[in-house]
Amino acid sequence: VEAHIAKLMKATRALCVSSGMTALDIILRLVPSGQQVVCGDDLYGGTNRLLSFMKQQNGIVVDHVDTTRLEAIQHVLTPNTRMVLLETPTNPLIKIADIPRIVECVRQICPDCLVVVDNTMMSPYLQNPLEWGCDIVYHSGTKYLSGHHDLMCGVVGIKSPELAEVGFDS
Ligand SMILES: Cc1ncc(COP(=O)(O)O)c(C=O)c1O
Repeated sequence: VEAHIAKLMKATRALCVSSGMTALDIILRLVPSGQQVVCGDDLYGGTNRLLSFMKQQNGIVVDHVDTTRLEAIQHVLTPNTRMVLLETPTNPLIKIADIPRIVECVRQICPDCLVVVDNTMMSPYLQNPLEWGCDIVYHSGTKYLSGHHDLMCGVVGIKSPELAEVGFDS
């Protein structure tokens, strides 16, 4: 199953976990204490709650901006930014981020920053963030992934083999 999903997401490696929130949880563990996550101002409620939890428990820094505006993202990026987390389209407001332009901007300002996309509101057939230079994509499987709303899982697709090994194998 993971190999099939990896192919669909154009990932070198895919992981299946118990839910979309579990997927985000293992991804956020890549952010060390004191480092920053830049994310949207309209996010699935559970994502907001998990980010707040990680802020309190792990000491990560979380900045919420309007990810439909490139300048808003640019404004908060620092050399310390470890992750840009894009939910696009967002749930519930269906706000859209310009993924390729954001990736280009992030690579210029903080080359080591990971660009992560919550692609739950699309399917990999309609939007493939790894093809646009993102590092990690994830889905809640209970939405459009199977087309039938009959799955319960989370899936994570990772672009580089090094990140898959160093970030997710231990
Ligand atoms: C955009 C988005 N991301 C993540 C999740 C969380 O997924 P799960 O319910 O599988 O943990 C949801 C669930 O509604 C969602 O809408």
